[in-house]
Amino acid sequence: MSKQLERIKELVELRTKARLGGGEKAIAKQHEKGKYTARERIAMLLDEGSFEEMDMFVTHRCTNFGQEKKSFLGDGVVTGSGTIDGRLVYVFAQDFTVFGGSLSETMAQKICKVMDMAMKMGAPCIGINDSGGARIQEGINALAGYAEIFQRNILASGVVPQISGIFGPCAGGAVYSPALTDFTLMMEGTSYMFLTGPAVVKTVTGEDVTQEQLGGASVHSTKSGVTHFTAQTEEEGLALIRELLSYIPQNNQEEAPLVECTDPIDRVEDALNEIIPDNPNKAYDMYEVIGAIVDNGKFLEVQKDYATNIIIGFARFNGQSVGIVANQPCRYAGVLDCNASRKGARFVRFCDAFNIPIVSLVDVPGFLPGTGQEYNAVILHGAKLLYAYGEATVPKVTVTLRKSYGGSHIVMSCKQLRGDINYAWPSAEIAVMGGSGAVAVLYAKEAKEKENPAEYLAEKEAEYTKLFANPYNAAKYGYIDDVIEPRNTRFRIIRALAQLQTKKLTNPSKKHGNIPL
Ligand code: HXC
Repeated sequence: MSKQLERIKELVELRTKARLGGGEKAIAKQHEKGKYTARERIAMLLDEGSFEEMDMFVTHRCTNFGQEKKSFLGDGVVTGSGTIDGRLVYVFAQDFTVFGGSLSETMAQKICKVMDMAMKMGAPCIGINDSGGARIQEGINALAGYAEIFQRNILASGVVPQISGIFGPCAGGAVYSPALTDFTLMMEGTSYMFLTGPAVVKTVTGEDVTQEQLGGASVHSTKSGVTHFTAQTEEEGLALIRELLSYIPQNNQEEAPLVECTDPIDRVEDALNEIIPDNPNKAYDMYEVIGAIVDNGKFLEVQKDYATNIIIGFARFNGQSVGIVANQPCRYAGVLDCNASRKGARFVRFCDAFNIPIVSLVDVPGFLPGTGQEYNAVILHGAKLLYAYGEATVPKVTVTLRKSYGGSHIVMSCKQLRGDINYAWPSAEIAVMGGSGAVAVLYAKEAKEKENPAEYLAEKEAEYTKLFANPYNAAKYGYIDDVIEPRNTRFRIIRALAQLQTKKLTNPSKKHGNIPL
């Protein structure tokens, strides 16, 4: 064999070794837990055969605790580029079979390299996390590695989309990288995220909790809102990341891909003309409205189990990707509270950062009253949504279906927050407040003097409702651009979006605003 062939053989052997990560036993252990390896995950995530690996031969440099005798090619993370639906992405996947996927100085350098490449090329960066945290043997160098990653997450925010898949443990400070990215997806049953684990919790607070109770997928999808998506299987999770990317542009200078629309743009939905119940206190399901108006009824919901009184997610109109923000009347009457405001605000800001038009569907009775909300700073959280809408320069189309009262009317993309096209259904009630509340304030004293106060208040409420519970008062002032038939909503939104294609609007130059946090 020639020297050259010998060297090629060595390369092939090294590659084979690197591909085995922590070895066959560790891979079998990973499979036993119902988990795939880093390489298997990347293969499922990317277009077939598109993965271009980098830094396969990197090894750690640590000599503490005899680490020099334990070394694996690749050092516990698989990094590189590939394509999803033919579009370039950068990816890193922590390999739990090597030191439990724990983060070393060199692993951090590998991750930082793909993040830098993603920024240079203007392509999304996807991280698959499955790690025992900082590599304990490396001490402060592992911490420095985390900080390098966080700094890049921060600088990449709003420049390229960043997506985090949590496919195993993600604990301690390590959780801050996913938290800084745009979207997080957790695996049900096999992943968890927390700052301090059950043992520390027990010592400090005396609470007895399992990992799942403390930071499992169900906790973060329903209670904390930390995760945007959950999946039951890794296949499903990776497919969800692919689907999510189809609605998102490559970077903040580009638009989301336009897809061919197979759904007639002038499709009339008669059912919408009868969806609003006669009784204003009765609910209907906003999902039915969304399903009826978007292309092929297809809606990728974000944070679907968190703050369910507001609905956010991606859909398309005539093939164009939009972000939908909608109040949900059948969850707490669609009221805005702390969590719903935070959820809506972050989504609006994502859409604005990445040139995705926002369609808002409004049916909101107001902000939730009470000490629970006030003590939790509903003022600040509500202001987040207000700020996000007011700051957004992307096309904004708003449809008011029914209630739109007071502060919540303003917050939900009203005309004066630079809403571009604001439609209302004939059933819209755009007013300072609802009828019963209004008459209670205006006529409480007079009612007491009447023989039948309830009857008197009901009369006054009917008067108030007739005067204010309609869209025409707002339309009279041009605060609503048109009152539309519900069944034509799809077509009207599509035409509005077409009109707004060339919208140009910039905010005053500044270092950055000071959003109420
Ligand atoms: C080095 C680690 C490691 C770590 C796991 N391993 N975590 N090696 N540093 N942080 C190694 C194990 O020693 C083991 O090696 C292999 O990975 C697999 O781990 P197991 O424990 O056998 O796996 P499992 O039973 O599935 O348990 C997974 C685990 C557990 C729950 C993650 O390993 C664990 O609790 N790890 C420590 C977590 C932790 O405290 N990390 C530091 C947090 S501080 P062998 O050779 O036996 O196969 C931190 C600060 C970050 O992260 C701050 C950022 C700002």
